[in-house]
Amino acid sequence: MRSLLGDHVLQRLQQESEGALHQRVFRCLRSAILEKILAPKTRLPASRDLAQELQVSRNTILTAYEQLQAEGYVEARTGHGTWVAEHLPEAFLNSHAAKKQQQTPKKKDKNSYVLSQRGASLIGYAAASPHQWGAFVPGAPDVTEFPHHIFSRIQSKLSREPDVERLIYSNAGGCIELRQALADYLRVARSVQCDADQIIITEGIHQAIDLVSRALTDIGDKVWVEDPSYWGMRNILRMNGLELKPIPVDAEGIMPDAAKGIPKLIFVTPSHQYPLGSHLSLARRKQLLTLARQHRSWIVEDDYDSEFRFSGQPYPALQGLEPNAPVIYMGTFSKTIYPALRLGYLVVPRQLFSSLRIVSAELYRGGHLLLQKALAEFIQEGHYAAHIRRMRLLYGKRRAYLIELIQRYLGPEYVHEYDNAAGLHLVLKLPTECDDVAVSSAALARGVKVRPLSQYYLNAHAQAQKGLLMGFACVNEKDMMMAFGTLLQCLREAGIQTLNSAQLP
Ligand SMILES: Cc1ncc(COP(=O)(O)O)c(C=O)c1O
Repeated sequence: MRSLLGDHVLQRLQQESEGALHQRVFRCLRSAILEKILAPKTRLPASRDLAQELQVSRNTILTAYEQLQAEGYVEARTGHGTWVAEHLPEAFLNSHAAKKQQQTPKKKDKNSYVLSQRGASLIGYAAASPHQWGAFVPGAPDVTEFPHHIFSRIQSKLSREPDVERLIYSNAGGCIELRQALADYLRVARSVQCDADQIIITEGIHQAIDLVSRALTDIGDKVWVEDPSYWGMRNILRMNGLELKPIPVDAEGIMPDAAKGIPKLIFVTPSHQYPLGSHLSLARRKQLLTLARQHRSWIVEDDYDSEFRFSGQPYPALQGLEPNAPVIYMGTFSKTIYPALRLGYLVVPRQLFSSLRIVSAELYRGGHLLLQKALAEFIQEGHYAAHIRRMRLLYGKRRAYLIELIQRYLGPEYVHEYDNAAGLHLVLKLPTECDDVAVSSAALARGVKVRPLSQYYLNAHAQAQKGLLMGFACVNEKDMMMAFGTLLQCLREAGIQTLNSAQLP
């Protein structure tokens, strides 16, 4: 017979779509505690029993229990199981005592501590990222192909005689030579209308999103996000107390007609919708610009991987479509060079530059100026453009090979119809009845890293499409074939019919 707790968790799990299974189980258990299905000072079921009841692995339950403990909802008593805490974190927050508690987090013992509500919720939503390398990690470039010898030659030359300007605190918005090199590059390669004095260097798009949302919104403000969209961005917005309004996307990108209310910020990926791959049509671009002007909103253009387009010319940036467009443009070196470089940039309308530069300096005290100067030289000497050209060819071949495998062994309808031959990943479309989360977990257990499309939606809902995000950039053809064979096996186990089974890889 099923327990009250088991019933609650199974029911809630159906409404939970974001994050790995253990995070979803954690949130369901937390709600059981907050709703007093598990009262304070009661004992949680043994992990083995709950795992059996919920039909999940014991590790999933153990990880969820660990997270509950880390956040102060339960206490582990050695040899006596896990117990609901007498005082819950949420309860602290509602009392005067709680406010004090927040200022000085209460240490319960040296291994357990109480997180803030937003800290706890961030952990609840965090992606259980497996190691970000290998078949088919979405969005990962081939970091082994970067000309490290050229870059390190420039870096060592600069660090032998470092300029004082590169070693002190700076509030200039980043190294001026890099801002200049970027302005020249963005004008030509992305049709961005800008000068160096509109550019702020950040530690990637993540930090750029944080900066823009903290500087331009207040807690409780509404922002539009594409649905589906990048979970990393959503976590930053949630952390800044914003109300996220999911706006659907179709083959022409975000659908402003489906939106209601007035947003402060509108987050879009116009060149390559993340994750579905569509390109924002000209009509929608104009509609969005008009709407932003009417509402005095800012459009935030995340141009994360548009250097890689494999047929025709790259689509120009939305920012450059009209003079003085109400657009804040964001780019990154994570996809063109490597993610650990942690360098990205913002191109901001002139009227925002000086305020955003100051906010950036106050919040992050940006550094790495020697690295930025080295990157400026790397770009100015033509190595950056050459590297992108070479990678475009390489990734184009890998993408073509993956599409060939999908078409041969599954059928052409499995490549998502919004795909516009760009970026570092594609979406393998699955039938709506297929459990893409289960397929990706089964694949991960066999070393193949694909991400379930349904988890990129803000909330679990009937329109959420099913599919798998597959990165093709950081895996060579031979490894791709092997990994694809493993994935086919998982798909077959999930009831998907494969073709040409006699010659399966
Ligand atoms: C759509 C999108 N925007 C931004 C980023 C993050 O960029 P950065 O590494 O510059 O923070 C990613 C990372 O995968 C992404 O997929």
